[in-house]
Amino acid sequence: MRVLLVGSGGREHALAWKLAQSPHIESLICAPGNAGIAAERLAKSGTPVECASVGAEELEKLAALALEQRIDLTVVGPDNPLALGIVDLFEERGLRIWGPTRRAARFESSKAFSQRFMEQHGIPAAAGGAFDDAAAAKRFAASLGGRCVVKADGLALGKGVLVCSSQAEAERAVDRIMVERAFGAAGARVVVQEFLEGVELSLHALCDGKVAKVFPTSQDHKRALDGDRGPNTGGMGAYSPTPFLRDAQGGGTATLAAASASIFEPFMRGCAAEGIDYRGILYPGIMLTASGPRVLEFNARFGDPETQVYLTRLQSDLLELLEASTSGTLERMELKWSPLTSVCVVMASGGYPERYARGKVISGLDAAAVMPHTKVFHAGTAQQAGEIVTSGGRVLGVTALGHDLKAARSAAYAAVERIHFAGAQYRQDIGERALLKGA
Ligand code: AMP
Ligand code: GLY
Repeated sequence: MRVLLVGSGGREHALAWKLAQSPHIESLICAPGNAGIAAERLAKSGTPVECASVGAEELEKLAALALEQRIDLTVVGPDNPLALGIVDLFEERGLRIWGPTRRAARFESSKAFSQRFMEQHGIPAAAGGAFDDAAAAKRFAASLGGRCVVKADGLALGKGVLVCSSQAEAERAVDRIMVERAFGAAGARVVVQEFLEGVELSLHALCDGKVAKVFPTSQDHKRALDGDRGPNTGGMGAYSPTPFLRDAQGGGTATLAAASASIFEPFMRGCAAEGIDYRGILYPGIMLTASGPRVLEFNARFGDPETQVYLTRLQSDLLELLEASTSGTLERMELKWSPLTSVCVVMASGGYPERYARGKVISGLDAAAVMPHTKVFHAGTAQQAGEIVTSGGRVLGVTALGHDLKAARSAAYAAVERIHFAGAQYRQDIGERALLKGA
């Protein structure tokens, strides 16, 4: 099969690396890709993975590329092309593509849509409401005592969520989003939610419009600095599985099986009732509260850096799974996972998520690549005059497997120590709280 992969981050490098292992692949093109993706080769033939300089949001050009290259399946990594309707466009042109349609991707592109859906279909969520009117949003925040979270309805690069601890802060947040339009058109509407306390985790399920196959648990670390301090980022590191939500064998309510039953089952039933054909990954961010897991948000794609830890543990053929998700035949597929723990430490450019420099030479990649059970996924990297240089905020996702969390962490950090670039910034405490919990 000839496959086109859309995107350029660490998630896409992990997808490319795993797809390249499939014996069914005869050609893999990534648009636009990055330096790490360009260095991958197909396991069966040794053919290099190609990178095409077409942006992930240039939908017409991507469709033309798929036609010209006789692509059998296009795989979409990021949220923006999904929200723009890449799946609808490709399907109109008779091109096979994996991912949710624009309508199905509204679970991520509209928080108001998700809030309404969760309330209607009995999915445990934060109590909340969606508002087109700033005064009404402020009144609702007051009814929550001002301790609330104010969210821009639309996509805002993960930045459109403001946590407030007083009514004055909530009113300021509503004004920033709705009046000043700090996040542009995404803030025409807001969702105001009660503030939930607990441990935040990521769930993923692969869906085919009928069934949802649930992945093991994982946890991302969204804040920039150790101890969950500093600004929110796209994600500074992840590990899987997490001890905060055990698999079914442990019994009790804090299990993955119980969380799946309360989230994915009503989700699929709700989609059937509303005529939404959800194919792709559904990734709910959840809070484990004292009264059980509650959904904070839905994403309509793989998480980054969750993908890096999931795909290093996945033993099944990824292409077969994505094919089955596209064609509605997932029910008979089995997802096999390594029992090992995977840890990904993100190395970012100094200053990320605010301003940062680009073009810093990265050294030590070869020394890290030879370390056992370790894979360095590239995110913001580029080739320049024969060297690999930084080209984004998140630069690398250094990922390692171990027989437990402690071993996987040691291996990942040992590889991180070998890699250098000016201003490199990374968290030292990925998975540390889980270790204290006894993982
Ligand atoms: P979201 O993009 O909706 O997931 O929000 C970004 C981050 O804000 C989440 O990862 C949480 O850390 C935090 N957050 C969102 N909603 C809530 C909530 N209702 N209560 C507490 N924290 C929240
Ligand atoms: N891990 C955060 C995200 O992918 O949105």
